[in-house]
Amino acid sequence: MKRVITYGTFDLLHYGHINLLRRARELGDYLIVALSTDEFNQDGKHKTCYFPYEKRKQLLEAIRYVDLVIPEENWEQKEQDIREYHVDTFVMGDDWKGKFDFLKPYCQVVYLPRTPEISSTKVRRDLEEGAGR
Ligand code: CTP
Repeated sequence: MKRVITYGTFDLLHYGHINLLRRARELGDYLIVALSTDEFNQDGKHKTCYFPYEKRKQLLEAIRYVDLVIPEENWEQKEQDIREYHVDTFVMGDDWKGKFDFLKPYCQVVYLPRTPEISSTKVRRDLEEGAGR
């Protein structure tokens, strides 16, 4: 069984996230999503989420492409996760291109093209400005 892992915040779940998760799952047979905890978002990524961790996790677990959700608590856990979960492929959107090449000795590293024009930040901004889609 080929195992794939990806990391992210996945707040205000949108079709860019779904596209990423679908393509990540197609690279193997089992997709693990390491989901940033609220503490890590705040302290490590300097992001504030609309949905708390448990709600973001519940949404991800309802997606057919996602097999397991684990917490992402810091920047350093990736090597250990790859070992612990016997990961074959590490996947991120290409906004992170090159940033995780240091994992190449442990597994395949793939950057997938982002879906254009959509992000949690954009959804949040548009809603604040009262713009509809
Ligand atoms: N992603 C994507 N296409 C988008 C938005 C996100 O492929 N339009 C991918 C990212 O590259 C990442 C994963 O989805 O691999 C989770 O991204 P995340 O940072 O949670 O989503 P964003 O919408 O980019 O959030 P923010 O605006 O807070 O940065």
